[in-house]
Amino acid sequence: MKLLITGGCGFIGSNFVRLILNKYPDYKIINLDKLTYAGNLENLKEFEDNKNYTFVKGDISDNEIVAKVIEDVDVIINFAAESHVDRSISYDDPFLKTNIIGTHVLLKAALKHQKRLLQISTDEVYGSIEKESFTEDSNLNPSSPYSASKASADLLCMSYFLTHELPVTIVRSTNNFGPYQYPEKIIPLFISNLMDDKKAPLYGDGKNVRDWLFVEDCCEAINLVLHKSKPGEIYNIGSGKELPNIELARLIIEILDKGESLIDYVADRKGHDRRYSLDTKKIRALGWSPKRKFEEALKNTISWYTDNRAWWEKLKN
Ligand SMILES: NC(=O)c1ccc[n+]([C@@H]2O[C@H](COP(=O)([O-])OP(=O)(O)OC[C@H]3O[C@@H](n4cnc5c(N)ncnc54)[C@H](O)[C@@H]3O)[C@@H](O)[C@H]2O)c1
Repeated sequence: MKLLITGGCGFIGSNFVRLILNKYPDYKIINLDKLTYAGNLENLKEFEDNKNYTFVKGDISDNEIVAKVIEDVDVIINFAAESHVDRSISYDDPFLKTNIIGTHVLLKAALKHQKRLLQISTDEVYGSIEKESFTEDSNLNPSSPYSASKASADLLCMSYFLTHELPVTIVRSTNNFGPYQYPEKIIPLFISNLMDDKKAPLYGDGKNVRDWLFVEDCCEAINLVLHKSKPGEIYNIGSGKELPNIELARLIIEILDKGESLIDYVADRKGHDRRYSLDTKKIRALGWSPKRKFEEALKNTISWYTDNRAWWEKLKN
């Protein structure tokens, strides 16, 4: 199989490229990445000389470059995105350009060349839920410019399936954590700050709840969807490990053997969704469940950031 991975130099994309190249020695990957602040060639350095791996620097909203890289592949998996909610609150132009226009460019090219597209989306498109969990049929109700741009992309994807019968599949994942996550996101931010006895900034009352999924488990779910799903389907992915941010902060503090005085309560994020929660029966029926226990995966993630200080220090500076 030959895959076009977009955004493969980011957090989840690079973990997915690693999984595929290690698991399927005969698969070929083209990684199209713009190398924004979040894209890092170091994330896939070990594959630089791999004959099955080609890196192309480029923007998914550029029709010409997309036309060139798409011709010869079987499936496009679109990880490329502006992904940080806080950035979308202060300046959202790149979110609309990459997440909506970029996805549209991929859809048009996929239609022209009759390729399959797997869109990587997020639980944030459903918005906040007080009790129970969203299913794949729940209405979209995004709160931030980031989640609104991802919801727009999802709607466009489904419209290409319904109108043009383009084989499109969508996965909506909960919050990922693990190695190679840019240190602006809560887990690597807290780990790297606390390691240096710096404060961990916690929004509002710290009671916002997220479902935490280890990135390798997420990549395995995406791999299953790649091989086993039907066109036009949407799959929620999540671990079911729901945790208020304050408890997450306390766990990291405990593992790093630091004090709770390092928690810094800061003004809440605008439009901050209180709780995300997904019903994941559909992906579980397809044969997936997360392999790693949350506490163990968190400990391993903390060890990775401890062992790879040079990787994140450069990004924070
Ligand atoms: N991280 C999470 O917890 C999470 C959860 C659910 C869904 N998602 C989704 O998964 C995908 C990957 O997320 P991530 O956390 O790995 O993001 P990331 O920010 O770490 O990486 C994004 C990658 O996309 C590249 N990119 C950005 N704009 C581009 C463009 N116009 N053209 C080509 N490449 C471009 C960046 O250079 C970077 O390599 C995103 O679509 C995101 O919405 C992420």
